Amino acid sequence: MMKVDKLTRMLIRPSYARCNILVSRNLASESPKPFEDVPGLKALPIIGVLHHFLPIFGTVGIQQNFFNMFNILERKYGPIVKVDGIFGRGTLVLFFEPDHFDKIYRAEETNPLRPGAQALDYYREVLRKDRFDGVYGLTSAQGEKWRDFRTKVNPALLKPKLVKLYTPGLEEIAEDAVARLLRLKDESYGTLSEEFGTEITKWSLESVALVALGSRMGCLQDGLPEGHPSHTLTYCSRNIADLMYKLEFIPHWNKERSTNFKKMMEIYDLQWDVSAMYIDQAKKRIQERGHDIPEEDQSVLEKLLAIDERVAVMMANEMLLAGIDTVAFTTIGLLYHLATNQAAQDKVRQEIREQKGARYLKACLKESLRLMPVLPANLRQTSKEHVVGGYIIPKGVFAIAPNENLSKSEKHYVRATEFIPERWLVEKSDPLFYGNTHPMVTLPFGFGVRSCIGRRIAELEIEILTKKLLNTVRVTWNGPPLQVVTKLMNEHKKPFHFQFETLD
Ligand code: HEM
Repeated sequence: MMKVDKLTRMLIRPSYARCNILVSRNLASESPKPFEDVPGLKALPIIGVLHHFLPIFGTVGIQQNFFNMFNILERKYGPIVKVDGIFGRGTLVLFFEPDHFDKIYRAEETNPLRPGAQALDYYREVLRKDRFDGVYGLTSAQGEKWRDFRTKVNPALLKPKLVKLYTPGLEEIAEDAVARLLRLKDESYGTLSEEFGTEITKWSLESVALVALGSRMGCLQDGLPEGHPSHTLTYCSRNIADLMYKLEFIPHWNKERSTNFKKMMEIYDLQWDVSAMYIDQAKKRIQERGHDIPEEDQSVLEKLLAIDERVAVMMANEMLLAGIDTVAFTTIGLLYHLATNQAAQDKVRQEIREQKGARYLKACLKESLRLMPVLPANLRQTSKEHVVGGYIIPKGVFAIAPNENLSKSEKHYVRATEFIPERWLVEKSDPLFYGNTHPMVTLPFGFGVRSCIGRRIAELEIEILTKKLLNTVRVTWNGPPLQVVTKLMNEHKKPFHFQFETLD
């Protein structure tokens, strides 16, 4: 029965090669249509496209996440959907065919533009220009400024051997985090809901700070005093994400005068001051050591300090901006999938106990990110004109790759909405094999030279915590399915219904 089912699915799944040949044959005979003809949401004067998002009457209505919103747009308008820009922002185009955005993303690889962090851009390039002159970081910078910084920091952050140096430190942090979770679990009779998210965020901050600032912050201690730097960084991280989202809905002509914008500038200052203080301490420690250590044993921070102190502080800031909530969200998603798939959890535990590496655990992480990515979509701004799917796509457009939607579609994966880590491990001949799908469908860490610079650090942190936790407890989920809400990034809707049972 199973065999017939698999065979049927294989036969009805489209072959990319075959589709592409047909698509390109049809298009070659026609000249491309103008951009105005791309179907989608049209703007009205002043309110832009907001009326489409009204409850009941709006074309899209109010949706709790981008996944639902994008599904509605694809169903209504087809594989290429245009959403007119609002508040002076670029027009968005969603590409539901991986070949379409693949063409654009690859053609933009020499100068990948990722817009969307205007407040940070203003902070670094206008408000604190004197401080940053010549050093602009990664998240908000574009063009040469971005490339210059990325080229400087890539060697320190992307070498797996270098990142592995943090294993003992991250293990110590994971042990502290698990001990704290167990204590809290006992106090709350096995169930952790609200505080679970806070605890995972503390662990993720403590872990990324070890790499960024070169020391432990102490977030996982009991009874931290008011005003402890770890409170400041947690406050900054939480508010930056929240304010970024709110600022998206303020017209650009009013932005700099708004209370939220001013608050955001204060928070960036706060975060900078804390990072600079820790980096100063690290510099002193290195000077006091008084002798050189082999390059391969030098920490990320030491390597960055050797380039330029401003690069080190800026990169620390980037890590604190991009490396806390992303890792916390992904870890909660992974634990949720393992809690609701006990057979997979048992396999992970067996792998841990038999000390067989982390092959299966890594597959679980990939599968969890496929189903619950932190970022529902990827984004590039076009720097030139493209012809895609029969339309002219002009310069300046925000080209969106709706990866979460594609990753959960039967068009691209067999049993697409099920958690099946095996798809990342099976042979080519197996219909589940992940390689049967287009390589641009699932991109949880982004694409190409601008993809996530913290990927290796994130994977190591998550792997270490999951191993420590699952070796000690069985995790179950006792509630309705975990919901995702999008606020720029995907977030989980609380409460969490995890239960932890201590194992022998
Ligand atoms: C599982 C956790 C994480 C996920 C899923 C994730 C995902 C992403 C994605 C999708 C992008 C956009 C890439 C693109 O546009 O192609 C990105 C960029 C970035 N991430 Fe991560 N990230 C994670 C953890 C981290 C961590 C731990 C750090 C820091 C240590 C970090 C630092 C950054 C930075 C600095 C960028 C901007 C890169 C650039 O523009 O050159 N991320 N991340």
